[in-house]
Amino acid sequence: MILAAGQGKRMFSPMPKVAQEVAGRPLVRWVIDAAAALDPDSVVVVVGHGADRVREVLPPRVRTAFQEEQLGTGHATGVALAELGELDPHDVVVILYGDTPMLGSELISELASLEADEALRMVTADLDDPSGYGRVLRDDNGNVVGVVEDRDATEEQKAIREVNAGIYAVRAGKLAESLGQVTADNRQGEYYLTDVVGILAATGNKLVAVKGSPEEVAGINSQDQLAEAQAAKRREINQRLMESGVWMLDPERTYIDVTVTVEPGARIYPGVHLEGETTVAAGAQVGPDVFAVDSTIGANATVWYSVLRSAVVGEECVVGPYASLRPGTVMEKGSKIGTFVETKNTTLAEGAKAPHLSYLGDATVGARANIGAGSITCNYDGYDKYETVIGEEAFIGSDTMLVAPVTIGDRAITGAGSVITKDVPDDALAVERGDQKEIPGYAERRRARKTAAEAEA
Ligand code: UD1
Ligand code: CA
Repeated sequence: MILAAGQGKRMFSPMPKVAQEVAGRPLVRWVIDAAAALDPDSVVVVVGHGADRVREVLPPRVRTAFQEEQLGTGHATGVALAELGELDPHDVVVILYGDTPMLGSELISELASLEADEALRMVTADLDDPSGYGRVLRDDNGNVVGVVEDRDATEEQKAIREVNAGIYAVRAGKLAESLGQVTADNRQGEYYLTDVVGILAATGNKLVAVKGSPEEVAGINSQDQLAEAQAAKRREINQRLMESGVWMLDPERTYIDVTVTVEPGARIYPGVHLEGETTVAAGAQVGPDVFAVDSTIGANATVWYSVLRSAVVGEECVVGPYASLRPGTVMEKGSKIGTFVETKNTTLAEGAKAPHLSYLGDATVGARANIGAGSITCNYDGYDKYETVIGEEAFIGSDTMLVAPVTIGDRAITGAGSVITKDVPDDALAVERGDQKEIPGYAERRRARKTAAEAEA
């Protein structure tokens, strides 16, 4: 069970804390994924604050239990137990918090491996500054006998540096029994799950404390802790990628979500953000300064100083610098989208090029067609969107306005500066512009007038 009904007050965010993402995965999902290593019979998440937002980020098979009022961790555990229904008393219940993204499956597995005679295992950590945490109480023989919350602790107890991480594995029968005895008789007036530890110890049960590292068990309570977790996950992800053969110039400045796939042999420059279902194939060069979400970058493609959203960049394509590929952009092999070009819902067939200063929306560009600098599709009339089809090897002259719906035939040419409103047949030239006039000597006469005026002044 994963307790996640709290608000996360210190985040000062309208988004429930456990739904906030670290490296592209919500906090609570990091915990669920780590716990999946145990192959649990069921996973139940206790939701409360922002329950709907939290439910949205949960994987399908996870159950939720709704805790209407946050009456304490003990109460939350009771709500989860009720959702789980009848359990075998020997079943092991693992209790985790939804805000500990660094928790690894090894520690959880060790925690859950209760010996036959053990009633509870809990994770503790030694902190230089234990303030705020529950302190672990041990007897003269070193046996754990209870946990005292910071606010209920005596000065002497506050000096204890071993803290309760809030992570436990308990026999279902023992948990239900002891939870029934927990009262809200404390400074915070809450039902403390931690009281279970003292109750079980007092009734002669065997308890075991497992040491965790402070970094691993740390909960996220503030924006700066969230940022620290981002940095730690980033290091892990980049380390794993580099070990697999991905080249990175500066891993500290490379931001790759856990949901992203990068093949060995890809080269990643600084300032790259890869998010969502993005994939980068071998030999591709990405960056400097690329933001890509839910996009595909093919083998040996080059993408730099650009933004990609739900775009497909085929193998050997070139994107950027300063290109914006919006959803529905598909680039086939060897095509190019160059400097200050924006595309949306547009396919560039093999070898097609839009090298400079263009907007292509709702367009199909044929193989090896060339879009001249400054040419755009006028796809929107203020009410509706229309399509532009450009044939194979067509040559769109610079600054052509293609007023959609319009079709340019295969190998057709448009003259620079033309406003094309009618379809152009295959192999034709379409020009739409005023005839050029020359006025001989005009510039010279103008210069003479200017010089005379200056002499008079
Ligand atoms: C808890 C422990 C403390 C431990 C610390 C470690 C108790 C009483 N204390 O204190 O010993 O050192 O964690 O971080 O358990 N939650 C609910 N419903 C509730 C209350 C809390 O779902 O009614 C959830 C919260 O969302 C959170 C977790 O339980 O994920 C911990 O609750 P919190 O109030 O933060 O407990 P701490 O005071 O940190
Ligand atoms: Ca807490």
